[in-house]
Amino acid sequence: MFGVRLQDSFNRQINAELYSAYLYLAMSSWFDSQNFPGMASWMRIQAQEEQQHALKFYDFVQERDGRVILTAIEAPQGEWSSPLAAFEDALAHERKVTGMINDLVDLAIAEKDHAANVFLQWFVTEQVEEEATAGQIVDRLKVVADNPVALLMVDDQLGKRAPEPGAE
Ligand code: FEO
Repeated sequence: MFGVRLQDSFNRQINAELYSAYLYLAMSSWFDSQNFPGMASWMRIQAQEEQQHALKFYDFVQERDGRVILTAIEAPQGEWSSPLAAFEDALAHERKVTGMINDLVDLAIAEKDHAANVFLQWFVTEQVEEEATAGQIVDRLKVVADNPVALLMVDDQLGKRAPEPGAE
């Protein structure tokens, strides 16, 4: 059995993870339009990871005999002023998601749902990595500033990111 409050919150998190996928896909499309194929590929892989996150929540709700309720996904922004601005938005978004995950942990503890708490620990760890990765790219892009050659080198590096196993 899954408590109603946790079920509602997990359903909201499914929506939030799918929104994350939508946001990163929008960024991927924008990077493509700006001729940064490496960053476009990086964001596309990130979008795929977010879909996997949504499915992890989806499967957990199902396994607990809960009911998955899918709701409308908000349209993401479609334009950014620079690669740095896009990655700064990605970092801000990940920080927001971290807050949501922490709130879910608080709720699982309050509801004494140990299985939900254990499940959420994977996301607690994942968010540390997500924030660190986005933060490192933001720092790199700040150093590069408007140097086109250096920007293309960063694009090239980010294009080397490989999809997580099972996320293709
Ligand atoms: Fe699913 Fe990027 O957090």
